[in-house]
Amino acid sequence: MTASDILQRYISFFENKEHVRIPNSSLVPQNDPTTLFTSSGMQPLVPYLLGEPHPSGKRLVNVQNCFRAKDIDEVGDNRHTTFFRMLGNWSLGDYFKAEQIPWFWEFLTSELKLPAQKLYVSVFNGFNDIEKDTESEQIWKKIFEDVGLDARERIHFYGVDKNWWSRAGLPQDMPEGEPGGPDTEVFFDFGTTHDKKFGESCNPNCQCGRFLEIGNSVFMQYIKRNGAFQELPNRNVDFGGGLERLLAVVENQNDIFETSLLSPVIKEVEKTTGQSYAENKKMRIITDHFVASSFIIANDVEPSNKEQGYILRRLLRRGIDNLSEIGASDVTPILESIASQYKDTDEKLKEKFEKIKGVVLEEQQGYKETQERAKAFIQKKYPSAGSGQVPSTASSKGGQAGQAIGDELMGVTKISAEDAFVLYSTHGLSPAQIKSLGLVFNNQEFARKIQEHQQISRAGATQKFAGGLADHSQKSILGHTATHLLHQALRDILGDKVHQTGSNITSERLRFDFNYDKPLTDDEIKKLEDTVNEKIKENLHVHFEMIPLKKALAIGAIGLFDKKYQEEVKVYFIGEYSKEFCGGPHVNFTGEIKRFNIIKQESIGQGLRRIYAQVG
Ligand code: ALA
Repeated sequence: MTASDILQRYISFFENKEHVRIPNSSLVPQNDPTTLFTSSGMQPLVPYLLGEPHPSGKRLVNVQNCFRAKDIDEVGDNRHTTFFRMLGNWSLGDYFKAEQIPWFWEFLTSELKLPAQKLYVSVFNGFNDIEKDTESEQIWKKIFEDVGLDARERIHFYGVDKNWWSRAGLPQDMPEGEPGGPDTEVFFDFGTTHDKKFGESCNPNCQCGRFLEIGNSVFMQYIKRNGAFQELPNRNVDFGGGLERLLAVVENQNDIFETSLLSPVIKEVEKTTGQSYAENKKMRIITDHFVASSFIIANDVEPSNKEQGYILRRLLRRGIDNLSEIGASDVTPILESIASQYKDTDEKLKEKFEKIKGVVLEEQQGYKETQERAKAFIQKKYPSAGSGQVPSTASSKGGQAGQAIGDELMGVTKISAEDAFVLYSTHGLSPAQIKSLGLVFNNQEFARKIQEHQQISRAGATQKFAGGLADHSQKSILGHTATHLLHQALRDILGDKVHQTGSNITSERLRFDFNYDKPLTDDEIKKLEDTVNEKIKENLHVHFEMIPLKKALAIGAIGLFDKKYQEEVKVYFIGEYSKEFCGGPHVNFTGEIKRFNIIKQESIGQGLRRIYAQVG
């Protein structure tokens, strides 16, 4: 059974249970400035989980391409990948535990033919006023007893750290208005011996490699209000299961990179490098990073120094480094093999193959030139520092190796924070790479330089605008800050239930989507305009802070964001009026926007509205 067979079976299974298939949303959220990539199937469905009716009904199924930037440094073991496909089925206030649990069991055992004795489950143990999930326990108990298995051995209880799901993670980390709920997960037992490095005894959530989580049914029935939990209007099911992991268990293969999906890519890496996978697990990083890069480029992202482009650049450079460390530089056959492996489910990789190849090769060349320039810079300024061989980004993961190369070639040389900053900003070396060259510098001073640099470039952009040289991007910055004001004003005027569902800003106008079920009256439109214009007139200071996620949630920052996978988040403050998760950039003072007026409103689907506005 191939990955594509599993996918087809899953979709048909739920279609036969009256689910409507909905499309895979873009890997790069189109209208969500706070999340760089889609990282779970429910992300685009939040308004519907909160109670908006979905145009396709109450039972939905899909496969969602997901990318988790947070996992970049995890890649290298037998199970982590940054890119994966999440199978999802949803009940929007329709069926609940009594259907979801037996259906998923049926899918695993009848459709995928997984042996029942290989499966274990976890159930929520309760938290404050939210009770232990005895309903799920009873359903699982019956399922296990029906197949002659001892339910006490099979069902494991955990608290909120393992069996509660929300985009923010733990209940205490959820912001006001955020949905969440208890979940029940299914694990596959590979039957390998427990590794005591991971704890005295094994259990389904142990990381030793014996168990693999293959599906999570979240009972999304709560919303956070005034620091406590209230029932949502609907009791929803949000199920997510990793396709690559399901393939691994179907093939009883505890190394995801040795499944029928990824092993042909690994074989290509072996061929290109003349090395064997058994002896060289860097091939996992190479494979994952080129798979993820292929999908990101297919979504029209190009390497750059910010946002999605920066993540892509990091993936590509790390892939290129790992490849060259094991003796090869030809990426084309690897990319070809990736496009061919995913062609049944993602035609886009084939269609855009030439583009993907072009972007990767160009980045490879550009990276080489950058490294040469960095090398020359080091040699010129620090002749005593040795050969000046530039290490690879790979060494930041395998830090030991990089350090050894650096020490051997160069010894330890103290350089100024200024020069470290040049290596960073002009030559594109990360602090870890600079250090692994055997160069040491004052970390705090270096961090200050980075901060200063950011302030100067922001001020520069503003100054240019003030001088009448506004280009498209500067005009967009105005729109961006105005969007935050509009978002807050909408909530002030229409109520806190209203939240952004999308936005799109060009130099001509801004477009803002939100959940609301009727046209705005002329009076409401006027109030919105007046509120935003008042805030512009107050010339409020705009600044951002990188703050721990928990704190950001505690102070009530609004907006769409991928909370589970970030520890520190960027929050933009506009005076005391608005705090919103955002990547920026923004103006320094709201007065720069000058004026805001709404030019149009329209409906864009049931319960969803769109506003067009202009600034300046
Ligand atoms: N939303 C749940 C997850 O991402 C299913 O695990």
